[in-house]
This record gives sequence, structure tokens and C-alpha cells, in this order.
Amino acid sequence: MSFDLGLPVNTALLLYVLYCVQRIILPSASTPKTVPNEFKHSYTWMPRGHPPTLLFKTYTPRTLQPFNGTDNPRILLAIKGVVYDVTAGRSFYGPGGMYANFAGRDASRGMAKQSFDEEMLTDIDQPLDKLEDLTGEEIENMRGWMDHFANKYIICGRLVENDAA
Ligand code: HEM
Repeated sequence: MSFDLGLPVNTALLLYVLYCVQRIILPSASTPKTVPNEFKHSYTWMPRGHPPTLLFKTYTPRTLQPFNGTDNPRILLAIKGVVYDVTAGRSFYGPGGMYANFAGRDASRGMAKQSFDEEMLTDIDQPLDKLEDLTGEEIENMRGWMDHFANKYIICGRLVENDAA
């Protein structure tokens, strides 16, 4: 069996093999010029851009409210002072979703009492719900949801009083 270099497919194959060998022998030749020196020995490639980042921030009931899936594509909700980015659960919290009333709001009481009734929500101009009247079982319930949210979504901030941020 002979290797006919005249055949285009063989020429292409040979060029590809040479390219692969060159990448193995001289990895730095294919490294973008912008790679910082400290990474040059550990990476032979870098992603084109930085992946999207999420900034951990402090929210108040008023600044959280716009993240309700209607005014802003990002959807946030809070439980017991912890703010979760639930954008990935748009079908639950987006407009028309079963739990849309929690979007952009402090959902603590509703999560504790397993209710999405309007009266579970505190007006955004009022002080935060202290949740002092909750029973042990309701607090357990709320903690269970917090575990669920921490496992499924990203914690992206904390919720404080309107005049504390
Ligand atoms: C009418 C009765 C209800 C039905 C049929 C129902 C149904 C469901 C279903 C099918 C899911 C999706 C489960 C999954 O795929 O992981 C779900 C999730 C959920 N439900 Fe309900 N539910 C009901 C009542 C409630 C109530 C009263 C609350 C109030 C707190 C609630 C809060 C939630 C939450 C927070 C989730 C998680 C959504 C997520 O993962 O982002 N559900 N429910």
C-alpha cells in the first residue's frame, strides 16, 4: 500500500497531522498574545471572553421589586434575607407563572405557610416582615425551601430594610 501525496485527501490529512504535531510540540505558538504570563505554562488556550458574572449585591424591598420578570428579564426573589437569582425558573416566576407573585419580592412568609396568596407579601414600602408569628413547622418549611433554592439557583445578594442600603 502506498501513500499518494498527489491525492488531495492525503495532502489535507498530512497537513492536519503536521498541524497537530506543531500544537503538541509548540503549544505557545497557538496561545493568544493576551494570555497573562502566569497562565502561559498551564493553559494552551483561553476562552474568547469572560463568562457572564453575577455580582453579589445588597437589595432592599424597593430595589428588588424591578426584578419581577416583567420590567427586567432577570428574576430575583428573597427568602429570610437571602436573595436568589431564579431567572432559570422563568416558567415558575415569570409573567403568568404559578409563582409569579414571588418574583421581585420577599417570599419568606409564602414559602413558610405554603401559600401564594397576595396577603403573604409585605408592601415594598413597609419594613421587612419579621416573621415572628411563624410556628416551628412553618419555619422548618421555609428552611426547606431555602435549601431547595440554594441547590437549584444562585444566591446573588441579601435583602435589607429600605433605609439600610
Ligand atoms: C395547587 C397546589 C400545587 C401544585 C399542583 C404545585 C405543583 C408544583 C410543581 C409541579 C412543581 C414543580 C416541581 C419540580 O419540577 O421540581 C412545583 C414547584 C414549586 N412549588 Fe408548587 N404546587 C402547588 C402549590 C404550591 C404552593 C401553595 C406553593 C407556595 C409556596 C408552592 C411553591 C412551589 C415552589 C417554590 C416550587 C419550586 C419552584 C422552583 O424550583 O423554582 N407550590 N409545584
